[in-house]
Amino acid sequence: MTRPTPRLGVNIDHVATLRNARGGSHPDPLDAALAALAAGADGITLHLREDRRHIRDDDLARIRATITAPINLEMAATPEMVEIACATLPHACCIVPERRAEITTEGGLDAAGQFDLLRPLVRRLNDAGIRVSLFIDPDPAQLRAAAELAAAVVELHTGAYAENRTGELTRLADAALLTEELGLECHAGHGLTYANIQPVAALRQVRELNIGHYLIGEAILHGLPHTVRHMRALIAAAK
Ligand code: PXP
Repeated sequence: MTRPTPRLGVNIDHVATLRNARGGSHPDPLDAALAALAAGADGITLHLREDRRHIRDDDLARIRATITAPINLEMAATPEMVEIACATLPHACCIVPERRAEITTEGGLDAAGQFDLLRPLVRRLNDAGIRVSLFIDPDPAQLRAAAELAAAVVELHTGAYAENRTGELTRLADAALLTEELGLECHAGHGLTYANIQPVAALRQVRELNIGHYLIGEAILHGLPHTVRHMRALIAAAK
């Protein structure tokens, strides 16, 4: 049976990182979003971190006001972020763990351990009509907690797989299978590159891949349209 090609969400955070290095307005993440979409991206992902180190509130507002493609807002599980999400109404919110000192999102959300904290936040987002995704490690207990929390989606953290840790592809495959049983939509992301995308894109349950750092890095060398088109082609060809 054929299945739809997984969607590609392009994470534009590091366009903002580059802009912020000089403190001005160039390069503009909104321009990057438009270029990525024109090259075939299916949606735009952005992470409004509590310390605003890359994407800022104004970026989110301008992107929300300009693009019609789905926006996936990554955010910490805090009341401030939930208020921003409910005021902005992106297509989806992906709740991620956030530690100020980390360079990037290092591990999955502890949906099982933080169940009571997450429950009202997930409910609020669901009630606002926002699709809730939880960024979790490929761990059955976390998947079950996500289903109990009534999240529509889980995004499986592919960081350990990207670091070539033994057994990680099997863990991802098993977790993807479990999403089906639990009625969760399965996404995946973190550390994905041209070299490691295809085994993940080939997992039958994976509907969306969110990729940032590598695409923006490649774009410096080869241009964002070319980079997005090439990643899109690799995803489409994955078996
Ligand atoms: N998905 C989530 C939930 C993330 O937090 C990140 C990193 O911001 C990504 C995907 C993209 O990871 P990378 O930048 O390594 O491609």
